[in-house]
Amino acid sequence: MAKPPNSPPPLLLLLLLLLLCPLLLLPLSSADDFAVMTKLASLLSPTPSGWTGTNPCTWTGITCDSTSTHVTSINLASLSLSGSLPSTLNSLSLLQTLTLQRNSLSGPLPSLSNLTSLEQIYLDSNNFTSVPTNFLSGLTNLQTLSMSDNPNLAPWTIPTELTQSSSLSVIYASNANIYGSIPDFFDSFPNLQNLRLSYNNLTGTLPSTLGGSEITNLWLNNQLHGLSGTIEVLSTMTQLSQVWLHANSFTGPVPDLSKCTNLFDLQLRDNQFTGVLPASLMGLSKLANVSLQNNKLQGDCSSCCAGDIGYPISLAQSWLGNDACSEWTFVTCDSRGNVTIVNFGKQRFSGTISPAFVNLTSLKSLYLNDNNLTGSIPDSLTSLPQLQLLDVSNNNLSGVVPVFPSTVKFISVGNLLLGKNITTGSGGSGGNSGSGSNSSTSGGNSNGSSVSAGLIAGVVIAVVVFVGVVSFVSYKCYVKKRHQRFGKT
Ligand SMILES: *[C@@H]1O[C@H](CO)[C@@H](O)[C@H](O)[C@H]1NC(C)=O
Ligand SMILES: *[C@@H]1O[C@H](CO)[C@@H](O)[C@H](O)[C@H]1NC(C)=O
Ligand SMILES: *[C@@H]1O[C@H](CO)[C@@H](O)[C@H](O)[C@H]1NC(C)=O
Ligand SMILES: *[C@@H]1O[C@H](CO)[C@@H](O)[C@H](O)[C@H]1NC(C)=O
Ligand SMILES: *[C@@H]1O[C@H](CO)[C@@H](O)[C@H](O)[C@H]1NC(C)=O
Ligand SMILES: *[C@@H]1O[C@H](CO)[C@@H](O)[C@H](O)[C@H]1NC(C)=O
Ligand SMILES: *[C@@H]1O[C@H](CO)[C@@H](O)[C@H](O)[C@H]1NC(C)=O
Ligand SMILES: *[C@@H]1O[C@H](CO)[C@@H](O)[C@H](O)[C@H]1NC(C)=O
Ligand SMILES: *[C@@H]1O[C@H](CO)[C@@H](O)[C@H](O)[C@H]1NC(C)=O
Ligand SMILES: *[C@@H]1O[C@H](CO)[C@@H](O)[C@H](O)[C@H]1NC(C)=O
Repeated sequence: MAKPPNSPPPLLLLLLLLLLCPLLLLPLSSADDFAVMTKLASLLSPTPSGWTGTNPCTWTGITCDSTSTHVTSINLASLSLSGSLPSTLNSLSLLQTLTLQRNSLSGPLPSLSNLTSLEQIYLDSNNFTSVPTNFLSGLTNLQTLSMSDNPNLAPWTIPTELTQSSSLSVIYASNANIYGSIPDFFDSFPNLQNLRLSYNNLTGTLPSTLGGSEITNLWLNNQLHGLSGTIEVLSTMTQLSQVWLHANSFTGPVPDLSKCTNLFDLQLRDNQFTGVLPASLMGLSKLANVSLQNNKLQGDCSSCCAGDIGYPISLAQSWLGNDACSEWTFVTCDSRGNVTIVNFGKQRFSGTISPAFVNLTSLKSLYLNDNNLTGSIPDSLTSLPQLQLLDVSNNNLSGVVPVFPSTVKFISVGNLLLGKNITTGSGGSGGNSGSGSNSSTSGGNSNGSSVSAGLIAGVVIAVVVFVGVVSFVSYKCYVKKRHQRFGKT
């Protein structure tokens, strides 16, 4: 009852408390967040449905933190929105996800700098007009930057501040009007798996820090003037599975990609590659799609679409359509350009034997010996009309042995599992793998010693190659003479 002197009346105290309360409970930036969101709402057209009331945390597509004071996620994908973004967007200090793809948003992109919580940025397929300086600086937790298909951006370069985002796993900025070189900064992104920068105006060479990176998906195709230099660095990018480098100005040879064992799609067409394709390409068991046309390769190969089986013989087959057979070291042709010998012996190939060999109807000799081939011998090989020699010795083949015509020399020693289901306890170290498998399907059968088999093989090659070379040379001479004659008249 006895009030201390000079104390304010209770009503005044209450009022003061009411006034101060919001300021005490909420950090200043919450007011910022709400102001930014109100600004965003006013700039978007139409205003997204469900954006009613003054509390943005209740708006559709907006997520806030547990105190309902900070926006953590903005999801407005595919809402046919036009309009622009507020330049104060990076006041949303706890923003983690910004998802705005597939709208018609335009105007300048706001700086997102110092949004240290930001993990995902999706801005693809809009119509933004420019990228600010410091656009992506200080994004220490960024994992995904996806902003492809913004073709109306003023020309910009890849910001080197991105190195601050060491958690990046995805960079998609295709068709985004980027020019200049690709920074040599990939040692800053130990988790980067996807890099897509197609359809820009990038120039210069592939940076050396790409080597040893974890990138699996590399799209740098269709640069306006073209990336240049060699692609040697690919040989150390062992995680690669899909590589699109077509429509550039790359030069030099196609490198040895034998360490890229997961590679299934390799698009190299429309460049200036030179030299002979490395044999190791044939050993890549997952490689299914390759394009090489419009280069300066020896034995040029057009689009090669091989089968899905491990051993990509059809890859080689597609080489054969052109005049490649004179250059392709594994293949010997006759004077009409038909393949007569395929020699894949001792190439460390793994995988299975492709039934596609049956399409090489002129094939006389097929050497697959001393590799790591598994699976069974395709029965279809028995129908090769010209076949004289099939050497599959020293592999790891199994299954039933097809019955070849007696005209075929069939060499199968050194395949412990071959014909296994006929005789259980096969060969062992003796090397008589053919026991019980009716290996007497041919003249010189698998029980013959490898010395004589090798001799026979050698003779056959020698003869066929000799005949092939002689007829090829004489054919070329004939053609040349005829041309000269036409030239003179
Ligand atoms: C980002 O943070 C850095 C360092 O704290 C500061 O220098 C810079 O001005 C900030 N940028 C923006 C746009 O706030
Ligand atoms: C993008 O903006 C330009 C003008 O800046 C306009 O001409 C064009 O139609 C817009 N494209 C789309 C897809 O909205
Ligand atoms: C492409 O980039 C080069 C510089 O690297 C520039 O000179 C050229 O104007 C750019 N072309 C277009 C169409 O932007
Ligand atoms: C290879 O390319 C063809 C044509 O582009 C496509 O249809 C096919 O799915 C591709 N195969 C693989 C394994 O990528
Ligand atoms: C065959 O494959 C095995 C296991 O993958 C490997 O140890 C061996 O060296 C290979 N042999 C040849 C000749 O490549
Ligand atoms: C042989 O070639 C034809 C036509 O190119 C193709 O359809 C067929 O699949 C090929 N056969 C094999 C076993 O690959
Ligand atoms: C050789 O190839 C030609 C076409 O390139 C074909 O018409 C001919 O039948 C082939 N010869 C043999 C024996 O397969
Ligand atoms: C042969 O293949 C079998 C199964 O496919 C495998 O267990 C074995 O290790 C292989 N042997 C060699 C020498 O590669
Ligand atoms: C091998 O086994 C399969 C099924 O197990 C059988 O159908 C086939 O006749 C056998 N081959 C021979 C030559 O016995
Ligand atoms: C193996 O050959 C013998 C005679 O040489 C024949 O009686 C038998 O039927 C053949 N077996 C098979 C599976 O071809």
